[in-house]
Amino acid sequence: MLLDVIKKRKSVRTFSPEPLEEAHRIHLESHLESIGEGPFRHVSRIMDAPAADGNDEGQQIGTYGVIKGQQGYLVGICRPSRESLMDLGYNMQGAALLLSSLGIGTCWLGGTFKRSDIKDYVDLEDDEGIAAVIPYGYPAEKARVIEGLMKKAAGSSKRRAFNELFTVAEEADEGVFECLEAVRLAPSSMNNQPWRAVVDGRGIHLFMALPGRIRVEAGLNMRYLDIGIAMYHLEGVCKESFGCVGWENDERGSQLGGQGTEYVATLKIGKG
Ligand SMILES: Cc1cc2nc3c(=O)[nH]c(=O)nc-3n(C[C@H](O)[C@H](O)[C@H](O)COP(=O)(O)O)c2cc1C
Repeated sequence: MLLDVIKKRKSVRTFSPEPLEEAHRIHLESHLESIGEGPFRHVSRIMDAPAADGNDEGQQIGTYGVIKGQQGYLVGICRPSRESLMDLGYNMQGAALLLSSLGIGTCWLGGTFKRSDIKDYVDLEDDEGIAAVIPYGYPAEKARVIEGLMKKAAGSSKRRAFNELFTVAEEADEGVFECLEAVRLAPSSMNNQPWRAVVDGRGIHLFMALPGRIRVEAGLNMRYLDIGIAMYHLEGVCKESFGCVGWENDERGSQLGGQGTEYVATLKIGKG
């Protein structure tokens, strides 16, 4: 069950030097090949940059000491538009959760990596950029001190209360609580948890909490990735609970978010 994988996942920043099993690498490769469009119909470009044989430090991408021992990176490339970033977040999280389900650790990096190091591995079109990378590998038995410091700085273990994030009307199906819990457990940049949702008889209306004015420039791109990640969690768990679901633009639902939020889309249950 996807929810079990989501519940177990935590960011891993210290990896064991053990190379990826061949079967796990093949699984990852075929998953990456199968990735299609995201909910906003943008095709995501996710490259695998695996560690060279016998190189237990993985690809040489600087992470300011945050990551150690990775066996490769997923590199997320897209054009700098709101919807492309959301679709990239959605599709990269699909790959990250596949890795989690195989016992492979991951950590999203949007800030603490040297973009210039990766440019050697990828061919970027003029308007494309590297939005984020995800180092992966089997988790080391013992995390390093810097890992604890990063978690503390981001407040990683603290999640906002369910009622602070989501409003569920009485007529909603009880199954939506689990689906929203899957959103609450999603990773987000600096553990910002920018997802908000209102559920009524029309569906699950998803919103993004806007960053404070000073942080808009730096924070928006990351938030769009965060929202894409949440869309993957929400859609995946809803699909397991309700069968078919589909994203739509719901004019009435879009009005329900309240101040300081931006409407994203509505997940309709029983559609898709
Ligand atoms: C889009 C995105 C960007 C992130 N960037 C970084 C980063 O640059 N460095 C880092 O150490 N962690 C980064 N993280 C990891 C978050 O800090 C982490 O997901 C959050 O604190 C919640 O902790 P958890 O993933 O263990 O549940 C990022 C996460 C996301 C989703």
